Amino acid sequence: MKARIALAFLAAFLTTACSNGEAPDSGSPMGPQMGMDPGMMQRHMAAIPPEYASLTNPVPADADSLERGQDIYQANCATCHGDEGWGDGPAAANLDPSPAPLAHTAPMLSDAYLFYRLSEGGQFPPFNSAMPAWEERLDEQARWDVINYIRSLGQNGMMPGDTGNGDSSMMDSMMAPWWILGWLLVIVLVVALVLAAVWAVGRSRTTNQTPGTPLTILKRRYAQGEIDTAQFEDMKRRLTKDEDD
Ligand code: HEC
Repeated sequence: MKARIALAFLAAFLTTACSNGEAPDSGSPMGPQMGMDPGMMQRHMAAIPPEYASLTNPVPADADSLERGQDIYQANCATCHGDEGWGDGPAAANLDPSPAPLAHTAPMLSDAYLFYRLSEGGQFPPFNSAMPAWEERLDEQARWDVINYIRSLGQNGMMPGDTGNGDSSMMDSMMAPWWILGWLLVIVLVVALVLAAVWAVGRSRTTNQTPGTPLTILKRRYAQGEIDTAQFEDMKRRLTKDEDD
């Protein structure tokens, strides 16, 4: 029973750990052209203008910021980027290049790149896309809030204390194997404990069935009909005689 629970835990942890921050290979609503968009790599490597290049996110990705970011996202971004950030919003169909699958790309892109792209949009080379500029419509705090939010898409929520900065989410994904290892260790320990308990119970059962004194054995054998009355009396006499000696 316990082993089964442990196995269920193991399976749950492995699946969450494997899906963390990664777009699922199948079953995701990403069309085949998205994520494989040949221009995407180029856009990701576009030079970031100097006024953005050294920016880092000053807004901690706490629950308040994520909530504000979610509202901004649902109101302004989901039509193109999709409710869950897979680039599959209702307005996405006719766009070329198609809206980025932010749930997949945002966690691996730097604060500077995201803030630049969000502020200035994509209606100029090398992007030449329908991505609007948000500089005029969203103040700086709002832009960082929505960046915190799109970073949290595709992960199963944010780790507490994660600021949502590029560095720390990189760290999180690098730490994942150690995390799994830690849980494996816990599971192994639990299984070992269960085995030890089963062994101990088994042992105490056999020791409880100690044969008892020769006289009780004799009585039992007699009660079970293994020996008749004469044999019993005879053996009993000899036993008591031994004890008297
Ligand atoms: C009219 C559709 C549209 C809307 C609305 C829109 N985007 Fe985009 N966005 C795009 C397209 C198309 C791209 C991909 C091409 C590009 O990188 O310019 C893109 C790219 C991006 C990128 C770059 C991601 C990458 O992987 O390079 C970010 C970040 C982004 N959008 C954030 C947002 C946010 C946040 C909002 C809402 C405030 C938003 N977008 C609203 C169409 C849209």
